[in-house]
Amino acid sequence: MSVLGLHRKLEENAGLLIFGILFVSAIGGLVQVLPSVFQDELVAPTTETKPYGALELLGRDIYIREGCSTCHSQQVRPLLAEVKRYGPFSRAGESAYDRPFLWGSKRTGPDLHRVGAKYSDAWQRIHLIDPRSVVPKSIMPAYPWLAEKEADPRNTIQTRMKRLRLLGHPYTDDEISNAPDLVSGKTELDAVVAYLAVLGEAAGSGEGMAH
Ligand code: HEC
Repeated sequence: MSVLGLHRKLEENAGLLIFGILFVSAIGGLVQVLPSVFQDELVAPTTETKPYGALELLGRDIYIREGCSTCHSQQVRPLLAEVKRYGPFSRAGESAYDRPFLWGSKRTGPDLHRVGAKYSDAWQRIHLIDPRSVVPKSIMPAYPWLAEKEADPRNTIQTRMKRLRLLGHPYTDDEISNAPDLVSGKTELDAVVAYLAVLGEAAGSGEGMAH
């Protein structure tokens, strides 16, 4: 059959056309999905990537609960302008212990993947309680209640860590048994600030940086 004949057949037969469309788009899908299954460097943690400590882990969950990720991405793209503004671009292995990952693409506020080294804990506390006291034109909401609530009132930290260990996060028995001590008496604000402080630690030397 000539190419023209095949084309005509496809156009005249809706079932065949639908199959053709699915077949072609499946190839596109496979090209995107297969590398992440077979390429180790895309799923293995980078050498600097560590699982979150107990307090940081609670902070991350509060960050998700408060919807911080609806305004902040955590993915520095490999573009010169991004690298100059935020620091080394994000690599896949840095998110190996992020479940779910918080890459995002919506940036009402700046990207936070490298924010850890940028401010002191004291600045972060003041900014979260009242953003406009340090950035007068900020449109970020204030989160004053974080300072009043206990970080882990129902004592769930060990369960959280054990569940993550099932998924392959390398927590030791010691780390899990010490976890309640590390979070007792801490507020939600302490936890979120501890979490923000470690963002970007896995950037390492930034090998492969664009500048
Ligand atoms: C409605 C959108 C919005 C939400 C929700 C939001 N932010 Fe922001 N955030 C911003 C904007 C806009 C800025 C830039 C102005 C400023 O620094 O306040 C910002 C700035 C920041 C900065 C400083 C970044 C830098 O590089 O200077 C941090 C840290 C931050 N936000 C953390 C958080 C955390 C943690 C939460 C959740 C508890 C949160 N944000 C929720 C909009 C938001």
